[in-house]
Amino acid sequence: MKKIIIAIDGYAGCGKSTTAKGVAKALGYIFIDTGAMYRAVTYYFITHQIPIKEPSEEILNQIQLRFQKVEGQPQIFLNEMPVYQWIRTKMVNEYVSQVSALKAVRRHLVAQQQLMGQEKGIVMDGRDIGTVVFPNAELKIFMQASLEARVKRRHSELLKLNIDMTEEEIRLNLIERDYQDTHREEGPLKKANDAIVIDTSNLTIEEQIQQVLNLAYEKIRS
Ligand code: DC
Repeated sequence: MKKIIIAIDGYAGCGKSTTAKGVAKALGYIFIDTGAMYRAVTYYFITHQIPIKEPSEEILNQIQLRFQKVEGQPQIFLNEMPVYQWIRTKMVNEYVSQVSALKAVRRHLVAQQQLMGQEKGIVMDGRDIGTVVFPNAELKIFMQASLEARVKRRHSELLKLNIDMTEEEIRLNLIERDYQDTHREEGPLKKANDAIVIDTSNLTIEEQIQQVLNLAYEKIRS
């Protein structure tokens, strides 16, 4: 069967990763959460006290990222360390937009993401997947949802990870990240002209997955 690339972009907290993961599972595709890659680089910057300014090639080359399944879920490893529990903390949330605005960081990660999609059969979620990473993706989705729906979702996700952030803290962090993600020079969050908008404010995760799957089947059959 024909394999395609599915790019899912949108604001934080719209359920992009959960949807992408479900779609990938149903299609037997690879799922890549590019936010986890930017978060892992941010974690590296924080733990190695690297100043948040354009890093050298040497620094970037010290950061090895890969995804590996843990209990059936693809998780990110940084220099062979399982960091997926550490990349969702308040500290990483605070700095990730600044680190992901650095051009050298973006170029380094975009190149890795493009390699991951060479064989197609991939669902990738992020901010610039349909515009920069895979401008020729067969299916592009742009997800949006009301701020309140996104706050509620993030809050329950973080509770499951035992991360204690109030709804107000999450709200302020989302507003700040939305602003930074849409206003940076390199790879800003924006809808690709040919992306299909899905508003997830009143959808369940199952409905979100089904909507994307229906669109994917159309593309695969065409
Ligand atoms: O999807 P997320 O909230 O885990 O992403 C964390 C941050 O990473 C987000 O604030 C912006 C950045 N990001 C990015 O700049 N480009 C991507 N393709 C994915 C995420």
